Amino acid sequence: MKCLSVVLCLVFTFSPGSTQEDDGPYKGKFLGKLNSYHHQVSGDVYAVDEYTLLLKSFSYDGNGADTFFWAGAANRPGPQGFIVTDEHGKTNVLDRYFNKDFTLTLPDQKKITDIKWFAIYDIWSQNTFGDIYIPEEFEPPTKQRISQLISKKNSISSDVVEILDAKRIQLKDFIYDGKAKEAYFWVGVGPQPASKGFKVPDEYGYLDPLRQYKNETIIVEIPGDLTIFDLDWFSVFDLATHENLGSILIPEALNVPPSLIKIIPHKNDLPNCVQLHKDLQVSWEIFGPAVTIQLAGQVGEDEYMAFGLSGSPDSSQMIGSDVAVSYIDGYRGFATDYNITALSPCVKVLGQYKGVCKDDMVGGQDTNQMNTAVRENGINIITYRRQLISPDHGDKEYPTDAPAYIVWAIGKLDQNKEPAFHDYYPKHDIKIEFMPKEPIKTCFSFTKTEEIVQEPWPKGQIYDRTIRVFNAYIGPSGGKRAYQAITKHTTAGVSWYINGLMAPELWLRRGLTYGFRVFGGNNPHSAEYYHPLIITDDPYGGFDKLTEEQQSKIRVLAGVEYTRRGPRATVTGPLCVSSHKPTEDRRLDDTFLNFKKLNRTLITTCESGDPGILEITPNSSWPDTVYYNSFTQSNMGWKIHIVDTYSQRNEAPQIFITLNVISTILLAFCVKQFL
Ligand SMILES: *[C@@H]1O[C@H](CO)[C@@H](O)[C@H](O)[C@H]1NC(C)=O
Ligand SMILES: *[C@@H]1O[C@H](CO)[C@@H](O)[C@H](O)[C@H]1NC(C)=O
Ligand SMILES: *[C@@H]1O[C@H](CO)[C@@H](O)[C@H](O)[C@H]1NC(C)=O
Ligand SMILES: *[C@@H]1O[C@H](CO)[C@@H](O)[C@H](O)[C@H]1NC(C)=O
Repeated sequence: MKCLSVVLCLVFTFSPGSTQEDDGPYKGKFLGKLNSYHHQVSGDVYAVDEYTLLLKSFSYDGNGADTFFWAGAANRPGPQGFIVTDEHGKTNVLDRYFNKDFTLTLPDQKKITDIKWFAIYDIWSQNTFGDIYIPEEFEPPTKQRISQLISKKNSISSDVVEILDAKRIQLKDFIYDGKAKEAYFWVGVGPQPASKGFKVPDEYGYLDPLRQYKNETIIVEIPGDLTIFDLDWFSVFDLATHENLGSILIPEALNVPPSLIKIIPHKNDLPNCVQLHKDLQVSWEIFGPAVTIQLAGQVGEDEYMAFGLSGSPDSSQMIGSDVAVSYIDGYRGFATDYNITALSPCVKVLGQYKGVCKDDMVGGQDTNQMNTAVRENGINIITYRRQLISPDHGDKEYPTDAPAYIVWAIGKLDQNKEPAFHDYYPKHDIKIEFMPKEPIKTCFSFTKTEEIVQEPWPKGQIYDRTIRVFNAYIGPSGGKRAYQAITKHTTAGVSWYINGLMAPELWLRRGLTYGFRVFGGNNPHSAEYYHPLIITDDPYGGFDKLTEEQQSKIRVLAGVEYTRRGPRATVTGPLCVSSHKPTEDRRLDDTFLNFKKLNRTLITTCESGDPGILEITPNSSWPDTVYYNSFTQSNMGWKIHIVDTYSQRNEAPQIFITLNVISTILLAFCVKQFL
């Protein structure tokens, strides 16, 4: 059993080095010290996994004529062997090394157990300068299979659990009904799972209570500085009832590879810190009438972090919330005060702004005061201050006598540096006590995992000379592989669906007449669902939100007319909207392989009434590329190619490209499964 106080101290300090034992962090299985014969060869050798050696504090004077890393299966180093490429994967003659640490991978998928020795060897003089022998029966570190999760409740089950390396655990075919009150992946020390332990973020980095899992294979990462060697058990634990729902015991002295996950140094000076997501922390201090808040997040340069007080006194609710949207633009930091009146980016509704809007656009006042903003090691750290009781009466008050519900989100900034639909947000209530008796510290170190770039979904395209009528309705814009990846635009959360496809590219011929049957909603009081269809030469749309000057630069081709009171949309229709079922979680949209698979899980509801008809006849004055969009909201539509004849087949996708994309996706998927 390991010492609990050590573990506690690891988590409650931010020092990245604190897992280090006397000889540093776990490096794999120690093979031994290099035997040194000539040229000041020295160093320690570890087996990282079946194929990889780690040389630690390696030195060599570089004076050999024809010297290489050399390995073989003969009884001792000699001409029968093969070159092991250097730390850069090269077969160059070795240069001088002084006290260097690096890994070497054996060539041609050879395993450490396939060789008898590893040497620093001069081929010309057939001289061994240093070597190490691989013992008989040597077992290099490799992933370890543990028993299945032993289920106690909530129909939890899994196939084998595998410890992939010092920080990652894979649950195969994991099932959990999602019905416990407050279940988490939970780790700790001691003879059996207990409520004293540490939350493990789910496979997406969330710290919310676990969702339902219907036979999924997932990999979770042990948080912060902790490694598998610090722990005795892994469990699915209900914190509300203090019940262990299913668990495994972690064997002592596991022979697993070290973790490649990097721990990112980040020091936090404020007394309280709550980890909101694996990649987001909020810390704060209340002093007199003001609160200083620091958001630290592992986010992209084009992403914002939002944090604030919930719009409801008894749950975490975005509508009505009072949030700071913080980001860094170049060298300048922002923590802008926003007011959220609807679940959509800010739009003009009957002359007034609604949605996620800056306070000063809705008659409020930006009362946040920026302190500092830096970006270090891929982490944005933004500190701002505001009064507990803001001079802006629309703002919420930070309570000091009771916990308060909060909201947070991470998402992309749009083309105007306004927050677009969030990619990360909690689905459960979160309460924070801002003036606790003892400082709250649940934060752990940020870790950087090699990100698997997910291929975009194949794009939707309508290239069919027989189609003259398009049904235009509204649906979700999918995750990072969908609308955002295909158009490279941010998203409002919803997009146009045309003839059952998400924001497809269309090919229309000059001289033919086409009709769009518009089902975008016709209630102008709705901030989320009032979408007249327009066609312009502007890729972004949201015409109504733009300034007069911006509007004057756009060529309107259909859907907008000018009146004395300014531009007006001409075609609206009743709302038809596809949406996620309440039991689905749109944060998981990226797990679908393509749009069709997502589409199958959606439900479509339509208001009664006839659609509005937007009729167009592109003519020679139309540019070759125009865009369909919403009059009110930006980034909902996509391209229309205007062609002179449909035989311009080269403009349309070739089948093999699509197949290629699909196979790449399959490959990416397999790689993901494999990892
Ligand atoms: C879970 O899915 C795998 C295939 O991915 C299947 O072999 C297995 O039988 C499923 N288990 C259950 C309990 O449905
Ligand atoms: C948001 O704006 C509305 C309308 O101006 C106002 O009634 C409300 O108090 C504001 N809320 C916040 C949190 O600023
Ligand atoms: C998406 O679903 C709708 C029904 O809700 C269907 O009409 C449409 O054809 C589907 N699209 C695709 C590409 O399967
Ligand atoms: C071409 O189309 C534009 C926009 O739809 C229209 O204003 C214009 O009158 C048309 N020109 C001709 C010659 O029909």
